[in-house]
Amino acid sequence: MSGHFSNNRREFLKAAGKAGLAAGLSVTALPSLAGKYNNHQAGSGVTGEDIPYEQQPLPYGYAVLEPVIDAMTMEIHYSKHAAAYAKNLSDAVKAEGVDTSKQKLSALLAKISTYSAKMRNNAGGHYNHEFFWKSMRAASDSNMPAGSLQKSITRDFGSFDAFKTQFSDAGKNRFGSGWAWLVITNNKKLVVTSTPNQDNPLMDVSEVNGTPLLGLDVWEHAYYLKYQNRRPDYISNWWNVVNWAVVQRRFDKAT
Ligand SMILES: [Fe+2]
Repeated sequence: MSGHFSNNRREFLKAAGKAGLAAGLSVTALPSLAGKYNNHQAGSGVTGEDIPYEQQPLPYGYAVLEPVIDAMTMEIHYSKHAAAYAKNLSDAVKAEGVDTSKQKLSALLAKISTYSAKMRNNAGGHYNHEFFWKSMRAASDSNMPAGSLQKSITRDFGSFDAFKTQFSDAGKNRFGSGWAWLVITNNKKLVVTSTPNQDNPLMDVSEVNGTPLLGLDVWEHAYYLKYQNRRPDYISNWWNVVNWAVVQRRFDKAT
């Protein structure tokens, strides 16, 4: 298949997906499209961090992110919500014939339009949560990036505070459930975006494509026990648990 046709197909699927969502249809309306174009050759053009298909041990205890994220929220989030995405992903890769020893998860995400809605929801859900756990550590005040990452943030957003505002707004304004992201695009520019549901910027269905450097879960299950409806409070406290050393390593790898 030529790249030209591949691009057309991706645009078609993107448009079809957006039209379906705009019309109030669930993403479960998409499998028929995915099946029709099911040759798995599309791609978002970006590569992301390798994350295993299986759920990995949480890199810290459930209470380590207190008081920003409470232990019960962490326990339920990791052992129920995220575990379910990993289990459902395992079922989906078997059902759709993915050889996980050869097909990296990040590469599968880059052509997610060619798989089912179940794959899209659970491959995204699993990847995003594994990525999220690694992006946090115990809280500290005055938590900031340094070095080359800080310089690039200042170059592309004007200041760290301007970046924080843009990212926080992306999370606050994401209607319903989804994620806020800092990504680096193929032309090495830092961009803030957000995705609905369990989509992410590696996916060819995403409005903005880029390598994720930082992601924030703004689903209610991530904050409701402690913050109830106060998503903005959750987001403003969350800055204290961002693991900037990890974000810097992702940035170094992508540049
Ligand atoms: Fe979540």
